[in-house]
Amino acid sequence: MNPIAAHPELFEDLLVEAPDRQWWLLLYRTPAFEASSSRGRGQASNWHDHGGSSGALRVTSGSLLERHRASDSVSVETSVIGPGEFTSFSTDYMHDVLRESSAPVVSIHAYSPPSSGFTFYDRTRFGFVAREFIGEERRSRFSTTPPLPEDA
Ligand SMILES: [Fe+2]
Repeated sequence: MNPIAAHPELFEDLLVEAPDRQWWLLLYRTPAFEASSSRGRGQASNWHDHGGSSGALRVTSGSLLERHRASDSVSVETSVIGPGEFTSFSTDYMHDVLRESSAPVVSIHAYSPPSSGFTFYDRTRFGFVAREFIGEERRSRFSTTPPLPEDA
């Protein structure tokens, strides 16, 4: 277990409960690495990549439903990430993370290099189509998630 995720008491009470937003808190950042925590419930991240960063996410409380683009670049695979579980990803990874429980979900996200922003995608019958790049300065630590796209 990574040292940050092993001690949720260090950050969980700093995370704001915002019913319509996923709330982000930057925990640690160096030129090579960034870790942040998020709290939310009932929200979807929407389909996104990680701007050329590789990384991982670990759930510290609650559980997430993750849909990620499969290796054929068109179909979708689904997994549940429960408390204490994690997933890691390379630079070409694309996913949508759903906080569908009524209970709040807290997770730790690590990116290397630090996130420069995410590109958001629409899932169409032709595959994933880039819709919008949101730079880190806009994505911010307290921002609404973009509107849910219609799944094709
Ligand atoms: Fe992500």
